[in-house]
Amino acid sequence: MTVMITLSVNGQTVTHAVEERTLLIEFLRDHLALTGTHSGCDTGHCGACTVLVEGRAVKSCLMLAVHAENRTIVTIEGLAASDGSLHPVQSAFRTHHALQCGFCTPGMVMTTLDLLATNPEPTETQVREALGGTLCRCTGYQNIVQAVLAVADAERSATKG
Ligand code: FES
Ligand code: FES
Repeated sequence: MTVMITLSVNGQTVTHAVEERTLLIEFLRDHLALTGTHSGCDTGHCGACTVLVEGRAVKSCLMLAVHAENRTIVTIEGLAASDGSLHPVQSAFRTHHALQCGFCTPGMVMTTLDLLATNPEPTETQVREALGGTLCRCTGYQNIVQAVLAVADAERSATKG
């Protein structure tokens, strides 16, 4: 059965017909062409499909699109500024060489945003725990963790002036 859903995606209100069984990741990638959200396992294990739903990291392969009705979704495409400048987390990943093939990167970045929103000054252990549900098949975890810690450091310095 097809139903109409309305939600906010990257600041835009979207109304679209979807099959009730459509997963959020399918809706984002196949209906909205937001292919920056990657599909790695479709079983909730890899974290590549992570997006923000109401500001919290959610694996979009585990959520039905109809359950996103009236919710606010942010994908990796929604982070850069309108002039193309990268979000600070994206910049830190680039600066710290925190990506190799880049497949896991959108999920890592969105998970980082959730972490820093709830814990702006994480320890290295907390960063590793927060990213534990997001797998990097290139195994570049060290640089990813350094990138996240660098963002937290920069924000702490900016706050303290
Ligand atoms: Fe969703 Fe792997 S594709 S967790
Ligand atoms: Fe290749 Fe993480 S950079 S999967």
